[in-house]
Amino acid sequence: LYIGVDLGTSAVKLLLMDGEGQIRKIVSREYPIYFPHPGWSEQNPEDWFAGTMDGLKELLDGCDRSEVAGISFGGQMHGLVILDKEDQVIRPALLWNDGRTYEECDYLNNVIGKEKLSEYTANISFTGFTAPKILWVKNKEPENFARIAKIMLPKDYIAYRLSGVHCTDVSDASGMLIFDVKNRCWSKEMCKICGVRENQLAKVYESYETVGTVLPAIADELGIPHTVKVAAGAGDNAAAAVGTGTVGDGMCNISLGTSGTIFISSEKFGVDKHNALHAFAHADGHYHLMGCMLSAASCNKWWMDEIIGTKDYAQEQKAITKLGENHVYFLPYLMGERSPHNNPNARGTFIGMTMDTSRADMTQAVLEGVAFALRDSLEVAKSLGIKIERTKICGGGAKSPLWRKIIANVMNLKVDMIESEEGPALGGAMLAAVACGEYENVEAAADKLVKIIGTVEPEPELVAKYEERYQQFRQIYPACKPLFE
Ligand code: XUL
Repeated sequence: LYIGVDLGTSAVKLLLMDGEGQIRKIVSREYPIYFPHPGWSEQNPEDWFAGTMDGLKELLDGCDRSEVAGISFGGQMHGLVILDKEDQVIRPALLWNDGRTYEECDYLNNVIGKEKLSEYTANISFTGFTAPKILWVKNKEPENFARIAKIMLPKDYIAYRLSGVHCTDVSDASGMLIFDVKNRCWSKEMCKICGVRENQLAKVYESYETVGTVLPAIADELGIPHTVKVAAGAGDNAAAAVGTGTVGDGMCNISLGTSGTIFISSEKFGVDKHNALHAFAHADGHYHLMGCMLSAASCNKWWMDEIIGTKDYAQEQKAITKLGENHVYFLPYLMGERSPHNNPNARGTFIGMTMDTSRADMTQAVLEGVAFALRDSLEVAKSLGIKIERTKICGGGAKSPLWRKIIANVMNLKVDMIESEEGPALGGAMLAAVACGEYENVEAAADKLVKIIGTVEPEPELVAKYEERYQQFRQIYPACKPLFE
C-alpha cells in the first residue's frame, strides 16, 4: 500500500492506493489560514503536521497496516518554513499567495535584474516565491533571520517530521528562486543574493527518490512497519501532473484548486522570453512550464460562501443558461495576480451589470472570469509555438460539469476527465510506488494507473461566442490597472 499526502492550502488530503492503483480510501483534515494584513497569508506548520498525523490514523484504520510500503507528497509550493538550530519553527509560514514582498521583488527584478535571475534560476521574482520571502524576513525581522538554521518548503517540513531528513525535491525547489532549474541544483549566486548558506537549504532529490524511512516513533504511533519508505514527492502542481498522467512531452493539465494552474510538460528545458510562465523541473525527471493564477476555485468559494451564502454550488449553477452570452465580466484577482500580470495589487472586479442582471449571471461571470484568466496563460504558451489541443483537468473545481464545459469552450481545448480528480494526492502515492520499485519510472506508473473516463469537446459555435467575450475580457485589466496602484 502507498500513501499520498496532498498538503493543500485549505486542508491536507490523504489517499491510500494499492499496488494495482486502486484508491482504497481518501480522508482530509482542514486547518486555518491567517490573513494578518491585507495581502498577507500565513499558516502554522504545526497545524499541517497535526492534521497529517490525525488524518493518517483515520486513513489506516481498518487496513492491513503491515502492507504499507511507502509514503510521499504533493505540497502547496513556495511557502517559507524556517527552523532554528533545535529544528523548531521560528515563525508562521509565509504562503504561496502572500503578497507582502513587493519591495523585495522589486529589488530582485530591477536591481539584481530579471536577466540575471533568469540566468541563475530560469525564472524571475513573483511575490509568492520563496527567495523574496527570505529577503523580507532578513529586512523586516532580522532577529528571526539570524536564528535560521534550515529553510524548508511546506511538504518538506512534513517529510522531515516523518523521516527526520531535511530534504526537498526538484519540482518544489524550482519555485524558490534559489534553485538552478536547468542543472537541478542550488544556485550559488542566489544563495549569496539572499544571504543564505547552502547548508541552510535541504538536500535536493528527484521526486521519486527515497529520502529515508519513517522514524521508529512515528511508525509505532501509526502501527506501520519501520521499513516504510518516505519519497521526496513534488510541488502540488507537479504531483497533480503525475496523478493526471501529464508526463513526458507536450501534455497539459489544468488545476482548479485554491489556485488555478495550467501546466505543460516538456522533455527539454525551455524558458519564455519574458518569463511570463514559470520554467520548473518536473517530477518525472524532465521539465515543465506553468502559469499560475492565485484565486481560481477560491473565487467561486468566496462568491458562494461569503456573498450568496450557500453551500449548494451545484444548485446555483443549475440557474446558468446564457453560456457565451453573458455581458457581466469578473476579474478574478482577489489575492492580486501572478500569471501573467505579476501584480500583487490587482483586485477582483465585476463589470457590465444592468438592471436585468441576475445572480446566475454573476455566478456565471465568476466561473468564466477564472477560465478567461487561465486562457491568458495559454496564450503565452501558444506564443512560444507550443501547440496544445487537449488538457487534463483536476482539483475541486473540476468536479463541476458546467465549469469543465466553460473551460473547454473558452480555451478551445478538448478536456479529458480522469477517473480521480485527486491529482496531487494520487500523484504523491504514485511517486511513493515508484520509489518502492512497484513501477520502473513515473511515466510507466502514469501509463498503467491513469484512466481517462470521458472528454468534454469544445463546440465550434460556443467557441466563437467565447472568443468574442475573451477579446473584451482582455481589455478590462489594462483599463482597471491604474486603479490598482
Ligand atoms: C504554484 C502555486 C500554487 C500553489 C498552490 O506556483 O503557487 O499553485 O502550489 O498550492
